[in-house]
Parts: sequence; structure tokens; C-alpha cells
Amino acid sequence: METKILKAYDVINDSAAIDIAAAAVKNGECIVLPTETVYGIGANALDKNAVKKIFAAKHRPADNPLILHVSGVQMWESLVQNLNNTARDLMEKFMPGPLTIILKRSSIVPDIVSAALDTVAVRMPSHKIALEIIKRSGVPIAAPSANISGKPSPTCAGHCIEDMCGKVKVILDSGKCGIGVESTVISLVNENPVLLRPGYITVQQLREFVPDLIVDKGVENHVEENSAVSSPGMKYKHYSPDAQVVVVHANAQELAQYLVGEKKTGDFALVFEGQEEIMPIKAVNYGRYDDSASQAKKLFAALRKLDKLNAKRIFALSPKKDGIGLAVYNRLIRSAGFREIWL
Ligand code: TXA
Ligand code: MG
Repeated sequence: METKILKAYDVINDSAAIDIAAAAVKNGECIVLPTETVYGIGANALDKNAVKKIFAAKHRPADNPLILHVSGVQMWESLVQNLNNTARDLMEKFMPGPLTIILKRSSIVPDIVSAALDTVAVRMPSHKIALEIIKRSGVPIAAPSANISGKPSPTCAGHCIEDMCGKVKVILDSGKCGIGVESTVISLVNENPVLLRPGYITVQQLREFVPDLIVDKGVENHVEENSAVSSPGMKYKHYSPDAQVVVVHANAQELAQYLVGEKKTGDFALVFEGQEEIMPIKAVNYGRYDDSASQAKKLFAALRKLDKLNAKRIFALSPKKDGIGLAVYNRLIRSAGFREIWL
């Protein structure tokens, strides 16, 4: 398939590109669209054949359900059985934005979207281009991250071109994503609300509205592939570059010392800004030590860059786990397949 790569920075100036993307969605095709978190590969969520194409393009396991993107409350209501009060409170505070809410699904949601679960994940993105595509296509858009399953999520159009060129009708290029890690996912299906995936909206922020929020143990811990999990995405290999990642619990000096004895050809360090110089091997940074948001923004790009540099092993300093740092840690530890060392 020929893939059109079109700039889409502005709703008015790039209106023609948005029209082409919306028309492709209406026609049952896949597109790559920007969101404030990461780029998504999207299609009409109500058209099961269109959704099938997403699974094929990503090589995504069929039992891993998708997030539906809406442009307003009415569209959201059409996809779920009941927007309870907690959902409405969270929507009022965080919508549009990087918060995905799981509720019981309505009958218009095709089985394939939800991997046959009786629930559905929905969010309203705050990215102007994403919202405009949903509005102009008039349907909810199912959109997982636009990477091949298992690879780091794409945070710029270049990443999407690497993974999706030739597989989608259009790739919209809107520059770098502002947030850089995927949305926070919360399930309101059972009596106790559960955080299934940490993101830019933090546990602390959510607890203001949902004081009894539980953090699923899969957020920080390894989940076996054959076990029953609250969110199917938890059990798969994720965010992994070709190189082997090891998460290192230490400070920069300790890592530098360790690497003097340990280093082999193909080793790289993944550290914080300004720490590259003290490493005895080549190093790449993923943001500032004291700034989790800057780490979220840079992590996936840094992992992809390390593959380009032919890294074989990546020794990555662990981020702090508080606030947005929990999302950064959650992605990094998965990219490492839970391989970690303490120095
Ligand atoms: O920020 C985001 O959420 C991005 C952008 C493109 O919007 N999308 C995204 O989608 O990250 P994806 O498919 O890469 O991740 C969706 C996650 C998966 O871990 C999946 O298992 C989980 O949400 N999920 C989706 N529907 C679910 C459901 N009904 N029950 C439990 N988990 C669900
Ligand atoms: Mg993903």
C-alpha cells in the first residue's frame, strides 16, 4: 500500500491533510495520527474489518483490546452501558486528556475491539489534530500505539514511518508528542477502582477523586504470560528495543564504576542529562534526573536511538518512581523484561 506522509500541525492550515485522514477512516482504512501521549494507529472502531487491519499492521495478539478515542461525552456515552458518577467526576476533571477509563461496553462496540471482554477502554485525547480527525470522520477511532507490538511506542512521525510505512493510508506528522508515554488507564468496572497503567495523570491526582484507588500489582511487577490479568497488555513483552535492557538501581557514579569492570563491545548507558560524560562507555540521556515529565517525553525516543547506534546491551539508570516517574519506571522495567540489578 502506498502511504501518504502529510504534515498536520494546525487544524486550519493543514485542513486538507486532516480531511484525507478522516476520509480514510470513513473508508475503513488505517491511519497514523498524533495524540498528546504517543502516536496511534487508528481506524473506525465500529467497523470490525477496519479494526482487524490494526491488529494485522501491528502484529498485535488478538486477546489484547484497544482504546477507543472519542471527541465528546455523547460519543463516549454511546460506547458504554453506564457512565457512573466516578467516571463523570474524572471526565469533568481530566477530559480531554491522557486518561483512559474502562467500563462495561455497549452493544455497538464490536467484539474484536474488546478482545471479547465485556468492557471497553475509552479516552478523549486533547491533541487538536486527533480531535479534529474524530470529529470529521464522525466515529470513535480505535487506536493503539503505532508501533509494531513489543517495540517502543512512537513519539514522532519518524518512529511511525519506521514501523508503519506501507501498512496504512496516511501518516500525519505533527512533530514530537508532548507527553511521550501512553495514557493512564483506570478500570471502574468493579466496586474498587483499579489503576492498570500509570501515565501522565498520576495516582495522587486520581486519588483526589477516587480515594480508594488500588494500583494493580502488574504495574510494577512481572506478570506471567499464561496468567489471568486485569489488563491483557500487562502480560506481553513491551517497549523493547532490539538491544537487551538492564535497569540499574544506583546513582550515576556507582554505575560508572561498575561499567569500568563490566563493559563489553556494544554496551551503552542510558542515564540522565549531564551524566553522559562520567560514563566509561557511550551514553544517551533520557531527560533530567529531577524531572519525570522530561524523562517521559524522551524515554521511547532514547530506546529507539540506541537501536540505531547498534547497542547490544543498555544499562539504564532507574528513574524515581513517584508521580509521573511511576509511568516512566513501568515502561522502562518492561522494556528490560524485568531484568534489573542493584549496585
Ligand atoms: O495514550 C494512549 O493510550 C495511546 C494513544 C494512541 O491514545 N494508546 C495506547 O493504546 O497506548 P495501546 O493499545 O498501546 O494500549 C492499550 C492498553 C493495553 O495495555 C490494553 O491491554 C489495555 O489498554 N486495555 C484496553 N482495553 C482494555 C479493557 N477493556 N480491559 C483492560 N485493559 C484494556
Ligand atoms: Mg502500545
